[in-house]
Formats: sequence, C-alpha cells, structure tokens
Amino acid sequence: MGLLDKFFGNQNKEEITMGNEKLNIGIILGSTRQGRVSPKVGEWVKKIADQRGDVNYEIVDIADYHLPFLGTTDGSEQGIVAWNEKLSNLDGFVFIVQEYNHSITGALKNAIDSAREAWYNKAAGIVSYGSTGGVRAAEHLRGILAEQKVADVRTHPTLSLFTDFENGTDFRPQDLHLNNVTTMLEEVVAWSGALKTLR
Ligand SMILES: Cc1cc2nc3c(=O)[nH]c(=O)nc-3n(C[C@H](O)[C@H](O)[C@H](O)COP(=O)(O)O)c2cc1C
Repeated sequence: MGLLDKFFGNQNKEEITMGNEKLNIGIILGSTRQGRVSPKVGEWVKKIADQRGDVNYEIVDIADYHLPFLGTTDGSEQGIVAWNEKLSNLDGFVFIVQEYNHSITGALKNAIDSAREAWYNKAAGIVSYGSTGGVRAAEHLRGILAEQKVADVRTHPTLSLFTDFENGTDFRPQDLHLNNVTTMLEEVVAWSGALKTLR
C-alpha cells in the first residue's frame, strides 16, 4: 500500500456537491519567474487532492494570463477578462506561495488586485515555501485575502528550502507534510461548500 493510499484509503470518497455540481478548487501558482519551482509544488498538491476524489481540482497558472500591471491599461485586455472568468468559475483556492523578500510575489499580488467580486465569499488554503517555510509571505497573504472576502483556513503546510528541496531547487517533499495537506484540503472543501450558499 502506497503512502497516499495509507492516508486516503479509508476515507469516504463521496462527491462533495452543492446542488448537482461538484465544487471546483483552483490550485493557484503564485510565481511566474523563469526557472520557478511552483509548478512542481502545485502538481504535488494536486496529486494528493485528486486522491480524495471529492471535488474538481485544477492548476491555475497566473503566467498563462499575461496580466498587465494593474492600472497600466484600461483593464479590458483579454487576459484580465479571462482571469476574472476563471476565478468566477472556482469555488475555492489553494495558493502555492513562495517567499520573495519576506512577502508574496509581485505577480501574485497583481493577480489578486486584478479581480474583485470574483474572489468574494470563497475559501482558501495556503501551501508555502521558503527558507523558513514561506511563513512571512503566507501571513501577508492572509491579510490581503481578508480584504477580498476570501476566508483562509487555519491549517498551513510549510515547506523548507533546506529540507524539502535538494540544493534549494529540486523539490523532494518530506512525507510528514501529507497530514497537513490533507487537513488543509478538508478545511478548504468544507468552507468552499459553506460559502457557496452565500453567493
Ligand atoms: C526576488 C527573490 C526574493 C526572495 N526572497 C526570499 C525571502 O525573503 N525569504 C526566503 O525564504 N526566500 C526568498 N527567496 C527564495 C525563494 O523563496 C525561492 O527561490 C523559491 O524557490 C522561489 O519560488 P519559485 O521558484 O516558485 O519562484 C527569494 C527569491 C527571489 C527570486
């Protein structure tokens, strides 16, 4: 039995639905730089999430939307429209957060600023990484999300550049994080379903 099966084998895999529709949770990659490790971290979270079999999970890559820096255009670009449409179709989020100068990336902040109502009354979890687990970035993000009416759950997996990445770049997560990721997902799914009733 694999480690993931050990964690999820006995779980009730009933689909979590609101009405007849499964919830949709976006796993948002917070970094856009060339050579970033965030896609690896996002895929790892998605693999764990997909084992639950309860809601739809998808990777949402900010880089795909080519968002202009907020205020430098009239806001009618296709990328901004597509970004808002994507967020509107999601019920909750898992943010993959990397620490840049003790905060979140400029790209993630710009992406958050580039939508308004599409964020409202939804839930989010945070998976962060950095030299101290990305906690400073994650705590900044919590303050930002509150302003966008996104309810962030308590459980917060923190990955260390020293012990979860070989040479600081090659993602090799320790198994000890599985428990936290699972609990975080459970919280996000529960709150995403509850908050859907407000929209
Ligand atoms: C501009 C910049 C600033 C950074 N600042 C911090 C920092 O303040 N604290 C930290 O723990 N790591 C910091 N790092 C290291 C990043 O957390 C690390 O490179 C991580 O892999 C970046 O995520 P990404 O590869 O997905 O872009 C910084 C990296 C960059 C590029």
